[in-house]
Amino acid sequence: MGRVEGKVAFITGAARGQGRSHALRLAQEGADIIAIDICEPVAANPIPPSTEEDLAETVRQVEALDRRIIASKADVRDYEQVREAVDRGVAELGRLDIVCANAGISGTPAAAEDIPDDQWRDMVDINLSGVWRAAKASIPHLKKNDRGGSIILTSSDAGLFPYANIAHYVSAKHGVVGLMRNLALELAPHFIRVNSIHPTTVDTPMVQNDTIYRLFRPDLENPTKKDFGDAATTMNAIPVPWVEAVDISNAVLFFASDESRYVTGVPLPVDAGAAIKH
Ligand SMILES: NC(=O)c1ccc[n+]([C@@H]2O[C@H](COP(=O)([O-])OP(=O)(O)OC[C@H]3O[C@@H](n4cnc5c(N)ncnc54)[C@H](O)[C@@H]3O)[C@@H](O)[C@H]2O)c1
Repeated sequence: MGRVEGKVAFITGAARGQGRSHALRLAQEGADIIAIDICEPVAANPIPPSTEEDLAETVRQVEALDRRIIASKADVRDYEQVREAVDRGVAELGRLDIVCANAGISGTPAAAEDIPDDQWRDMVDINLSGVWRAAKASIPHLKKNDRGGSIILTSSDAGLFPYANIAHYVSAKHGVVGLMRNLALELAPHFIRVNSIHPTTVDTPMVQNDTIYRLFRPDLENPTKKDFGDAATTMNAIPVPWVEAVDISNAVLFFASDESRYVTGVPLPVDAGAAIKH
């Protein structure tokens, strides 16, 4: 038996990076998947966007594990798109047990007083309100289960501590912790658990790009991946520049499985000890 055998997981931002990794890790342990991703550029996000081919590749890899997956192109800023995708997935797969509200953007770094209003709004709309919309669309389905389910919100170490020049990201990610605690309180009577995960730097397209290299290395004109890695290593207590997406997926799997059946309301750093250096 897999650790989430017979369960169905809804994952936002599943076209690539951590979202795809969560889909594969949960599918390896027996879950079927409902996946959404915007698969197009987001104005506030300076990094290369995910594509429909990326989402199709997630579908291919989940199906190669002999699990079912219902994937849709949907924007977490639009509640109707999210609700339709979840409802369609549940209609096809029969139930919903696990929610990974993972979709997010890094945004364009700037001092707080220089962040344009539209970029602030997009950041909060995706990284905080989008997380709430994923939960809101899922809760009626989770409440139908005898033993509820598990909602896992992706925050960041930046949801626990400040980092200069990303006040919009830090604010949205701190907001996710408040949302997690409130949902955990409201949903506990239904045996629905809610926890958040706080990664340090993860090796995904979100960070492996020039904008992030420059954020970490303002001292260099043309910082490389190695220059970025050297700076990123100083943030962590365990001397690695970043963790892998599967390290976050393994924490997701614990929260998704019955092994954590009485764990709720917990902000869990998966951060190579970055939190203890703050
Ligand atoms: N990579 C890191 O270092 C790191 C560290 C801490 C937290 N996080 C968080 O982890 C989560 C996953 O990020 P990742 O590292 O896999 O990055 P990523 O850029 O590879 O993946 C994010 C995915 O979210 C999707 N997305 C963005 N806006 C969307 C929207 N409006 N609607 C639907 N989908 C949307 C993107 O298209 C993309 O496929 C994010 O919430 C991020 O903030 C990342």
